[in-house]
Amino acid sequence: MHSMCMPSTVIVGGFYGDEGKGKIVSYLAMKDNPTIAVRGGVGPNAGHTIEYNNKKYKVRMLPSAFLNPNTRLLVGPGVVVSPDVLLKEINEFGTNDRSFVDFQCGIIEESHKQIDSGGRLKESIGSTGTGTGPANADRAMRTLKLARDIESLALYLDDIPNQVHFALDRKENVLVEGTQGTFLSLWHGTYPYVTSKDVTASGICADVGIGPKNVDEVIVVFKSFVTRVGEGPLQNEISSDQAIAKGWQEVGTVTGRQRRAADFDFDLARRAIMLNSATQIAITKLDVIFPECTHMQSFSDLSSPAKYFIKNVEDKLKIPVTLVGTGPDVNDTIDTRK
Ligand code: GTP
Ligand code: IMP
Ligand code: MG
Repeated sequence: MHSMCMPSTVIVGGFYGDEGKGKIVSYLAMKDNPTIAVRGGVGPNAGHTIEYNNKKYKVRMLPSAFLNPNTRLLVGPGVVVSPDVLLKEINEFGTNDRSFVDFQCGIIEESHKQIDSGGRLKESIGSTGTGTGPANADRAMRTLKLARDIESLALYLDDIPNQVHFALDRKENVLVEGTQGTFLSLWHGTYPYVTSKDVTASGICADVGIGPKNVDEVIVVFKSFVTRVGEGPLQNEISSDQAIAKGWQEVGTVTGRQRRAADFDFDLARRAIMLNSATQIAITKLDVIFPECTHMQSFSDLSSPAKYFIKNVEDKLKIPVTLVGTGPDVNDTIDTRK
């Protein structure tokens, strides 16, 4: 009876990160009005860009659901926290009274950032330099400081798994936000060109203290083409000139680096669905491959080639595409869930 009605939804990236999870989460936060959005994933190496009513927001530590003033913003104990980044976002978004981090979140210090911004991690892996890998290494060594030791975070500390389960028991809506993407997972990705943790749905759930039976829906987010930032393999990669010609060029939210690009990859997508036990697909940037679809909010308005693209994804991947991005604004979304 319990699992039938608990409305918990996990959002994960299906490729190499930067699929547009931040925008999809913002849309769901406005539409579904969750009482809680809880962030899993690695830490401030993530960068989401969210556009809403002509304003652009960049978020790295807080959940991307911050635009909904009714939603409490939680960071699970598996996430490593940069106190300065977190406090800046709480201040910038004015979420002082509804932001909480777990007592047991690991803390990134200057020394971690230094190790991460030069040498092997930076040069051969292409790390973001934000200190997350070295901090997770210290956590494995059990020398890392935790949020409960940090005075500047005292106001925001709480037992996050407890808050999440309190909401689930009351059948409230809970959004669980993943970061990075399936093939950056330390277990399932293109090792060693990966991030420092597992970032598939199970890993994200462990980060926030949710077991496998507490999940109702897993939405895997795919961009309508594949991008990758940093080093590592990318099947069928196109040149940056070709990417520019197609309008696919992007720069990273955190590092400002050029993102590499390739066509939508069904083999990767199929494997991502398997690894995440995904139940729904969100496709972002449909407007980039079909510009005539820009800003559309209804599936029936899409051009025939755009409809065919979506149907083909559903036929090949065997789960429904329920959300489609048609522009960077939160409202540029087609929602066919109901
Ligand atoms: P990570 O957690 O770092 O992996 O990032 P992310 O998945 O949240 O994606 P990120 O915001 O880094 O990159 C996605 C980019 O695409 C952002 O600049 C968004 O504003 C933009 N975007 C998202 N959805 C759409 C869409 O449907 N159309 C267009 N044109 N842009 C989009
Ligand atoms: P790290 O996580 O900073 O150690 O970086 C390891 C690899 O993961 C590098 O290739 C990064 O570019 C990539 N990476 C880490 N976080 C993200 C993200 O949020 N989006 C896209 N790539 C990421
Ligand atoms: Mg990003």
